[in-house]
Amino acid sequence: MQQLIRGRVLDFHADPHDTDDNHRSWEDGAILVTDGVITATGDHAELSRRGLIPAGIAQTDHRPHLILAGFIDTHIHFPQVQVVASWGAQLLDWLNDYTFPEEARFARQGHAPAMAGAFLDLLTAHGTTTAVAFCSVHRQSAEALFAAAHARDMAMVAGKVMMDRNAPPEVLDTPQQGYDDSRALIEAWHGTGRQRYAITPRFAITSSPEQLDMAGQLAAEHPDCHIQTHLSENRAEIDFTLSLYPKARDYLDIYDSHGLLGPRTLLGHSIHLKPREIARMAETGSRAVFCPTSNLFLGSGLFDAGGLRAAGVTSGIATDIGGGTSYSMLATLAEGYKILQLQGQSLHPLAAFHWATRGNALALGMEDRIGTLAPGSMADLVVLDARATPAMALRMERAQTLAEELFILQIMGDDRAVAQTYVAGRAQKPAA
Ligand code: GUN
Ligand code: ZN
Repeated sequence: MQQLIRGRVLDFHADPHDTDDNHRSWEDGAILVTDGVITATGDHAELSRRGLIPAGIAQTDHRPHLILAGFIDTHIHFPQVQVVASWGAQLLDWLNDYTFPEEARFARQGHAPAMAGAFLDLLTAHGTTTAVAFCSVHRQSAEALFAAAHARDMAMVAGKVMMDRNAPPEVLDTPQQGYDDSRALIEAWHGTGRQRYAITPRFAITSSPEQLDMAGQLAAEHPDCHIQTHLSENRAEIDFTLSLYPKARDYLDIYDSHGLLGPRTLLGHSIHLKPREIARMAETGSRAVFCPTSNLFLGSGLFDAGGLRAAGVTSGIATDIGGGTSYSMLATLAEGYKILQLQGQSLHPLAAFHWATRGNALALGMEDRIGTLAPGSMADLVVLDARATPAMALRMERAQTLAEELFILQIMGDDRAVAQTYVAGRAQKPAA
């Protein structure tokens, strides 16, 4: 099936931090899609002149809205949909008081499938077309998420958390059970359609050395799987972690000594890092993931995006629902802007939108399929309306450049600014 999606189109091909030649945009742009894959992107009249637009093709015109590659969320917790906005605690108490009891519910028959549909609906309502998700400890939570995403042809990177200590028994596995369940999930889902597996030891506090060994073994046996965990989010977490691993040089060294670092590893938070840890992350190609709304909500600290970039570490940006407070990557970029302002780093809107799209795809090593509008990429798209609310419409009266429009979307936007989301060429919202 061929279709033409028309609008004001913005596509990144390089990181604005590296070069001024980083994007192309077309006021009357068009994206030609064949069976869910982008086959051409450019100026509508130009594509027409080149004879690329077949007569009678199905067309949707989103002008004056902006079309970009769909947002990618590189760190989110699927079983925490009903944890968001839980009052008063910092990380360790928040996990014990709210999060572990909620994740325990995923043992119940029928709960995970019901939540998986709701979760994916929330993502696409906010313009997110790919997420990297932690599931609960229960194999069926990951099963449910993969099955729901596969049915929508939506690219997910996900894994069941491995955790065998320091949490209630209902959310614990054992090193062997964690290994067996993860392996069964990899065999069933990794590479099935658009699904990919992330080996997911939750963090060093909830994994014994024996379990991290098993996670490392899985990683060695499945080198094309991602690995995701948490690193240096909060001071009390770091102190407790180091007391559990007294021989480790530092927090990162725990994961390193179990074979868990590399370009496919995503280290959520990565806030309170020592110079040695930053150098080792750069050396191994391990990725940091910035979770702005969560870092503020849980009072965790300020992520040093500029420092990490200068050291050669690639970072993703993410919501971290339910420590995070919004599914919106626009709201996430807004809070990210403020955190970086506190450190004298002003995130430019072009860099911000690059980060939430192609930048996050690069962090995942998936930039050949998602994050851009280049031919060959999947037609995962977000359509943004910078006049979505009265306040935005008024502010837009003063906007003169694309960068200003993007910044208004970044600072004032949320799901109301998402006019449409396409997953593999399929519109996810009823047409307006
Ligand atoms: N560290 C270990 N588990 C979690 C979690 O669920 N959320 C956050 N923010 N940090 C964690
Ligand atoms: Zn997390």
